[in-house]
Amino acid sequence: MLKKNIEDICNRQVEREGYSSNLYIAMASWAETNGYSGVASWLYSQSDEERIHMLKFIKYINERGGTAVMPALKKPAGEFKSVEDVFKEVLKHEEFVTASINEIVSLTLDEKDFNTHNFLQWFVMEQVEEEASVRIVLDKVRLVGKNNMYEFDRDILSLRRPAANASTAP
Ligand SMILES: [Fe+2]
Ligand SMILES: [Fe+2]
Repeated sequence: MLKKNIEDICNRQVEREGYSSNLYIAMASWAETNGYSGVASWLYSQSDEERIHMLKFIKYINERGGTAVMPALKKPAGEFKSVEDVFKEVLKHEEFVTASINEIVSLTLDEKDFNTHNFLQWFVMEQVEEEASVRIVLDKVRLVGKNNMYEFDRDILSLRRPAANASTAP
């Protein structure tokens, strides 16, 4: 049975993963309507992964005798200055999520909840890979500069790492 404080912080993460999914859809939609179909595909796929992260937490909470709570999600921004601006925001958001996961890990150690600690290890690794993959995209955006966005948009999907969730879907 999950302790209440662990259940609550896992539910907070349900909200954060759900918000991530919505945020990336908002960014994808902006990219789609501004001529960046490759960037839009990258972001739509990213959004799908975040939804799977949310489901992993929901299922884990319920499996351990807790109750997953469906959150109200705040409205993400719908306007962005540039593709570089979008990916800067993605990186900032992923760093926020990493800190959030680490906070849960820390609480599981305080509470000696080794099951939840073990469950979180997948997310710890996932965040390392997510941040690295977004940094690669950001480096490329900066390299190509504003004049070569056509090539960048065409090639961005080749920068996508293989779906990390394929074998670990909930
Ligand atoms: Fe996530
Ligand atoms: Fe993420």
